[in-house]
Amino acid sequence: MINDVERVLVTEEQINEAVHRIAKEIEKDYEGKEVLFVGLLKGSIAFMADLIKAYENTCTIDFMAVSSYGAGTESSGRVNIVKDLSVPIDGKDIVIVEDIIDSGNTLSFIKAYFAAKNANSVKICTLLNKPSRRVVDINVDYIGYDIEDEFVIGYGLDYNEHYRNLPYVGVLKRSIYS
Ligand code: IMP
Ligand code: MG
Repeated sequence: MINDVERVLVTEEQINEAVHRIAKEIEKDYEGKEVLFVGLLKGSIAFMADLIKAYENTCTIDFMAVSSYGAGTESSGRVNIVKDLSVPIDGKDIVIVEDIIDSGNTLSFIKAYFAAKNANSVKICTLLNKPSRRVVDINVDYIGYDIEDEFVIGYGLDYNEHYRNLPYVGVLKRSIYS
């Protein structure tokens, strides 16, 4: 498995730094409020777990799973709900927790979905951001690291459901997927 990694892109130390930096930012922005963190499965599990442990104010958590149909590694913009929220969100202050934002299709769909369910506010938090790949213009409130257009795996991120268990983010060798 390690042999499939071209190079480490974000180390465990760098992930830890981003997690704590973002947790502090959110604490400051939501002082006196209660955040509902909504993690998008499955990619966000590692980031979500670390982020809520670093977060020192009152919060609740929930998860959603969505899939975007399209060939290979491209998302088409048609987003399907695979697993819906398990709590009502009207009046809630939501922070969506995502592993990586690529085209922006997934997040723009979910933001609109939450707004339609009368959430009080919806912000977006992502460990990784690929700004050069953006198709839909969305405002990302909390970003761990901007990265180049490379396919990455580890720390929740997968290729064909593999590599999610790596403790760091690595660039996948091209020979694995081309
Ligand atoms: P978007 O709707 O195009 O922004 O899709 C974002 C989703 O695509 C992420 O939640 C990931 O599941 C997946 N994705 C995008 N880039 C990568 C990558 O480099 N590695 C693994 N998954 C990725
Ligand atoms: Mg994902």
